[in-house]
Amino acid sequence: MSKNDILIKINQLYKIFGHNSIEALDLVKDGMGKDELLEKSNCVLGLNNINLDINRAKIQVIMGLSGSGKSTLIRHLNRLIEPTSGEILVNNEDIISLSPKQLVQFRQNNMSMVFQKFALFPHKTVLHNVGYGLAIQNIAKDEWIEKATRWISRVGLDGYEFYYPGQLSGGMQQRVGLARALSTDAEILLMDEAFSALDPLIRSEMQNILLDLQNELHKTIIFITHDLDEALKIGDRIAILKDGSMVQDSGPQEIIMNPADDYVSDFIKDINRARVIEVRSIMTPTSTKSTGPVAQESMVLEDILQIMSKDPSKPVTIENSKGKITGKIEIGNLIEGMKRPKSQGTNITG
Ligand SMILES: Nc1ncnc2c1ncn2[C@@H]1O[C@H](COP(=O)(O)OP(=O)(O)O)[C@@H](O)[C@H]1O
Ligand SMILES: [Mg+2]
Repeated sequence: MSKNDILIKINQLYKIFGHNSIEALDLVKDGMGKDELLEKSNCVLGLNNINLDINRAKIQVIMGLSGSGKSTLIRHLNRLIEPTSGEILVNNEDIISLSPKQLVQFRQNNMSMVFQKFALFPHKTVLHNVGYGLAIQNIAKDEWIEKATRWISRVGLDGYEFYYPGQLSGGMQQRVGLARALSTDAEILLMDEAFSALDPLIRSEMQNILLDLQNELHKTIIFITHDLDEALKIGDRIAILKDGSMVQDSGPQEIIMNPADDYVSDFIKDINRARVIEVRSIMTPTSTKSTGPVAQESMVLEDILQIMSKDPSKPVTIENSKGKITGKIEIGNLIEGMKRPKSQGTNITG
């Protein structure tokens, strides 16, 4: 598998809700924004020229305020929504041109979805909920039971096989949702605000379960959230939507260090920079050993503060995961890292 192995390619995707969407499309292509379009043509701009490459075996986060088009985008991937115009390639195959029969196959084999409100069958047991996707594929009963039982165990629900969803807490129900999505072995996992309804502690636990599973399974996960902390924790890449347009798509560190505009800056203004900025983002590149202690690229600023506090005058040598020297950190780098990017509009004078 090459480093940039693209599984899903979204090209010039537009979605306009309402009658006359084709005429409205021309207006949008001529530069009309969401508010004006609604006023002039009574159409809602859902997605505006989205271009996005999604890497195989990585977690692509889609972030944005409510109404920015996140759900509209993810629903295009399994064609719950038809585009007004544009192209979606999965494994180089244009999924817009699939016949209804091919589409059923495609949905069964390639994608599964985890929903915010769990969407479990209330009158089926945990076992039957998890095994449902397999049972409808005419897989032999003992085989799907075996498989479902394994996934139930993998998400930590041993012993709950014959419980009903209503007897479980929200966090446990979402574990069932996750087990159900994983049980079909689909390569792509779509998660639309899957953890947003959960309490903070449970939510953090679910994030850990997901990351743990991902280490082992290497799925391609499209994960929608409006929560930056979640995006930073989960995402290999983060795409940010605003009014149907994509304003940035980059790695988490890049989002923090170089927000594309004020909308993105606004998202990151309250984060604890010391805890999320990695050393590699602020170090001065060099291959020469410095006089002070040694630290790793993947550490966060806070870790380096601890290390440097013993002797702040000595630069810290930075190594990558292979033990090769890649940079150094001095106090000045830490100060630069703690500064919020300029475009944030926070003026501290004096
Ligand atoms: N079926 C629909 N008909 C009309 N407008 C819609 C429909 N679905 C979504 N929209 C509009 O499209 C925009 C994007 O919605 P959505 O994708 O649900 O946003 P998000 O998931 O980011 O909160 C919103 O303005 C929403 O009102
Ligand atoms: Mg949504």
